[in-house]
Amino acid sequence: MENCEKKIKIGLIGLGTVGSGVYKTLKSFKNVEVKKIAVRNLNKPRNIEGLDDSIVTDKPFDVVNDPDIDIVVELIGGLNPAYDLIKTAIENGKHIVTANKELLAKKGEELFTFAEEHNRVVLYEAAIAGGIPIIMPIKTILAGNKITKIEAILNGTTNYILTKMDVQGASYDAVLKEAQELGYAEADPTGDVEGFDAAYKITTLATLAFKKRIKIENVYREGITKIRAQDMHAANDLGYKIKLIASAYLDENDRADVRVHPMLVSKKSTLAHIDYVTNAVSISGHPVGSITLSGPGAGEFPTASSVVGDILAIAAELGTTDYLLPMMRCKHESAAVPVNIADTENKYYLSINAKNNKGVIGKIGKVCEDNNISLASLVQRGVSEDNTAEITVITELCKERDMQNVIAAFEKDDSINKINSLIRVQI
Ligand SMILES: NC(=O)c1ccc[n+]([C@@H]2O[C@H](COP(=O)([O-])OP(=O)(O)OC[C@H]3O[C@@H](n4cnc5c(N)ncnc54)[C@H](OP(=O)(O)O)[C@@H]3O)[C@@H](O)[C@H]2O)c1
Repeated sequence: MENCEKKIKIGLIGLGTVGSGVYKTLKSFKNVEVKKIAVRNLNKPRNIEGLDDSIVTDKPFDVVNDPDIDIVVELIGGLNPAYDLIKTAIENGKHIVTANKELLAKKGEELFTFAEEHNRVVLYEAAIAGGIPIIMPIKTILAGNKITKIEAILNGTTNYILTKMDVQGASYDAVLKEAQELGYAEADPTGDVEGFDAAYKITTLATLAFKKRIKIENVYREGITKIRAQDMHAANDLGYKIKLIASAYLDENDRADVRVHPMLVSKKSTLAHIDYVTNAVSISGHPVGSITLSGPGAGEFPTASSVVGDILAIAAELGTTDYLLPMMRCKHESAAVPVNIADTENKYYLSINAKNNKGVIGKIGKVCEDNNISLASLVQRGVSEDNTAEITVITELCKERDMQNVIAAFEKDDSINKINSLIRVQI
């Protein structure tokens, strides 16, 4: 496609799902050449047309130490050896493209500073929301904005599970099993279903958007494993869908509230209509207002699209300037002051199993009132054979701390058998 005299040499570390897509896509560009590829297992059948086995090695440090290579593309994932490989590559004068969200969330600050000191860039479009272009737009065309709010669906596996639970009325366990059989969820799904993956992504995304370093240990995280089919049903009746939302809010004092947890989102909102493995990112800022980008958040070619875009952005500048992509470097002037979840204000959906006694409803209202919480709705969903009642409550905006006090009071109350669920509601 492109025509250029000097070929930019690429070193690929990892030839799995994303690495294969990148290799296949890069073949059609004449100005770049994959010089070396590192894998873990040389004997694994690759089934990639035109792959020259002689450039494949199981020694990734041979890639980062190759003096001919201009750009190292890290696609192995995890902290190590990815961290050591990238640092060595930067020391050796190479620019970096990576899709490694875990590494960026945990070691991003160190890596960006190290790269800056060596006048090299680390680009990572693919690490957040796979094929959706969000990092470059924030760095370039949205650069004039003060971004104060992000709400996003950043994990395809959990969105698939929640969509299926909603559509089929099935339990979490049944849908997880089906998702594993279809290859949408891993054998050990913890990283996805407990919200770690989304937490890594929102950490890096909010750091960039707010221009303030967010620390992963300050990101509140709650997964989807406790969501019940009954919650999906109740949410639907009330005009909501349940989604795993990664969010980040910057208040007027520049304090950052960054979290991942299930959320009831109004059926009128865009995010309620993002289903199955699709991802979406909604951003609010001034002067742009609110925008939402959606698309494939993972997969061989969508993710390769982002990786290749980063590679070509670097390649286009190599040899033309001695300070590449100044606008697109990762800048954050300071660390963000975190907001503790206990100090946040939210609306809540609460599902309570109570004894079918006289006065229970009044008691629920009274406990809430005593803790400064007003109710927007309270619905008793029938009485079971065992004479217990399922009660669904939606609150007005209130303090998390007050809500935790309400839960503690309910847990001590004889007329309440169980708090089935407590899920925050989109404001
Ligand atoms: N999959 C997606 O849709 C997606 C989307 C966005 C971001 N990402 C990120 O992209 C990265 C790669 O993901 P993936 O799904 O492509 O993973 P993958 O399919 O498991 O592939 C990993 C590749 O890395 C190689 N590898 C692992 N450890 C190595 C080592 N120590 N030295 C050399 N090679 C090593 C593996 O070699 P063998 O082939 O020999 O095993 C394999 O080729 C991860 O950071 C992931 O989070 C993935």
